[in-house]
This record gives sequence, C-alpha cells and structure tokens, in this order.
Amino acid sequence: MTSDTPGGNRSRGLLSRLRRARSRPRGRARRRLGAAVRLLAALFLAGGAYTVFAPGLQAQDTPQLTSAAQEGKALFDTSCVTCHGRNAQGVEGRGPSLIGVGAASVEFQVGTGRMPLARQEAQAESKPPVFNADQTTQLSQYVQELGGGPQLPEGDNLHRGGDVAEGGRLFRINCSSCHTFGGGGGALSSGKFAPDIKSADDRQIYAAMLTGPQNMPVFGDNQLRPEQKADIIAYVQQTLAEDRDPGGLNLGRLGPATEGVAIFLVGIVALVFAALWIAGKS
Ligand code: HEC
Ligand code: HEC
Repeated sequence: MTSDTPGGNRSRGLLSRLRRARSRPRGRARRRLGAAVRLLAALFLAGGAYTVFAPGLQAQDTPQLTSAAQEGKALFDTSCVTCHGRNAQGVEGRGPSLIGVGAASVEFQVGTGRMPLARQEAQAESKPPVFNADQTTQLSQYVQELGGGPQLPEGDNLHRGGDVAEGGRLFRINCSSCHTFGGGGGALSSGKFAPDIKSADDRQIYAAMLTGPQNMPVFGDNQLRPEQKADIIAYVQQTLAEDRDPGGLNLGRLGPATEGVAIFLVGIVALVFAALWIAGKS
C-alpha cells in the first residue's frame, strides 16, 4: 500500500497537470479570440463613429445644387458625360475638365452649337445649337456651381454706351490679326481658322473674349476692361455687322494688302500710259 499513496498522488498530479496542460492552450486561444473580437468590435465602432461624424466628406462629393443646376446636371449626364466625365472632371483623350471654366465658357460653347461635339476635329465648329436658351442656362449654372469661373454680365445688350471709334481702334489692335479688319475671319495654322464674327451676338462676343475658345487668346478684365469690351462689341455690331463703310469702297475688307494691290495696279497702268504718251510725243 506504500506505493498506493505516491502512485495516487502521482496519478492525481499527472491528471491535474494534464488537465492544466490541456486547459492552458485553450485558455490562451480563448484569450486571443476574445482580443480579436474586442479589436473587431472597436474597429466597427470607430468606423461607425467616423461615418456618423464625417458627413462633411460626403457633402463634398455631391454639392448642394440649385434647381436650375440640377436640371443642368440631368442634361449634362445624358449629353456631355461621355467626354467630360462624371462631375465634369474630364475624360483622358476625349474632353477636358470643365472645373473652373465657368458659365461664360459653357454658354459660348453650347450657345454657338460647338458643344456637344459631334466628332474630334482640328477645331470644334459652330453649328445650329442643340439646346435652347433655357437649357443652355441650366448647363452653365451646373458647371458654374461645380467649379466656379468667369461669368457674363446680365442682359442681351452688352454694348450699351460703347464708343464705336475706340472699339474700332481696340479691334484693329487686338482682333484683326486673326479675324481680319472686316471681321470676316481667316485661316490659321494646322487646319484651324478664326471664324466670321459678324453674326455673333453680344453675349457670344463677350464670352469669346472672356474665355478664349481654342486658339483665341483670353482677354481677361485686365487686358480689356469691361468698358473696352463694350466698345469692341459696339464696333462689331454697329460698323462691321451692319456693313457700314465710312471710308468708302471697302475692297473686300481684306486690309492693307488689297489696298496695296489696288494702288499698285492703278499706278502701274497710269505709268504705262504716261510712258506711251511721252513715247508718242517724241
Ligand atoms: C464627343 C465629345 C464631347 C462631347 C459630347 C461634349 N464635349 Fe465639350 N469638349 C470636347 C472637347 C474635345 C473639347 C476641347 C475642344 C477644344 O478646345 O479644342 C471640349 C470643350 C468644351 C468646353 C470648353 C472648355 C474650356 O476650356 O473653356 C466646354 C465649356 C464644353 N466642352 C462643354 C460641353 C458641354 C456642356 C457638353 C454637353 C452639352 C459637351 N461639352 C459635350 C468634347 C466633347
Ligand atoms: C490668335 C487669333 C485670335 C485673336 C487675336 C482673336 N480671336 Fe476670336 N477667335 C479665334 C479663333 C481660332 C476662334 C474660334 C474658336 C473656336 O472655334 O472654338 C475665335 C472665335 C471668336 C468668336 C466666336 C465666333 C462665333 O463662331 O460665333 C468671336 C465672337 C471672337 N472670336 C471675337 C474676337 C474678338 C472680339 C477679338 C479681339 C478682342 C478676338 N476674337 C481675337 C482666334 C482669335
């Protein structure tokens, strides 16, 4: 029986050790599992709290639009989104971003029928507009509210009070190099051209100066003050568009080259006759 007690002790010790050994890893695993669950719960809580307390980020993605701009967005999402992208951020190789181009640019591009672009060419040409005036305003409003940018003054008559003579001077300095002296337009390099501007209305002329479409430079308010823009529009509308020629015969309004050719031909003919007359006398 002497072996009983130590044997029993030993076996009890072994059992408890075994039990302890079995229970120890289980305890550790359970503790690890518990930690993982707590971590997950904390992550979920943090994530939930973040979405609850960060509505500002969502607001940045979808800014509050006025009702006109919402109408504009609907038009934009059907007619412009393929080339200019969702929220007008542009699509690589198809169309530029419209963020910051402003209502003036949209009104010009859509109002002259250049946009929506039909196909990629050297230059987006003007064609009968696809959208009516209201829709054009809605599209402009949408792009304006998305990214800001230059806007046109109110009203259809933007040359009220403009000085025609001063407008003529400014036109010859700033515009005639491309649009010619008579505003009839002319060719530029690589298949591009400056169009005839005599049929453009006040808002289109103003917008062209303010936004500088394609190869045309931008004439911001520092280069040409709003009063000077009014002078130029007055000159275009009252002298060029109405085909008034205060100086007499306009010679096709092609500028000094035709005038030179005319005086050269007249002069040469006169000289030839003078030479013949002298030869006949002698
Ligand atoms: C087939 C593609 C296409 C479609 C459709 C299209 N655009 Fe464009 N858009 C262009 C390209 C290309 C240009 C750049 C033209 C350039 O300046 O040479 C442009 C330029 C513009 C500009 C001038 C940007 C500036 O820098 O001032 C505006 C504004 C504009 N588009 C508005 C619109 C609107 C509004 C619509 C929908 C009614 C539209 N576009 C539809 C391709 C497209
Ligand atoms: C460097 C050449 C250049 C100069 C300088 C220039 N333009 Fe232009 N202009 C252009 C080109 C190119 C276009 C056509 C842009 C397009 O099709 O998108 C244009 C378009 C226009 C249009 C739009 C015509 C239409 O189709 O309805 C008007 C209006 C206009 N210009 C007025 C002016 C005025 C006013 C000035 C002087 C303050 C001026 N431009 C100076 C090159 C020029």
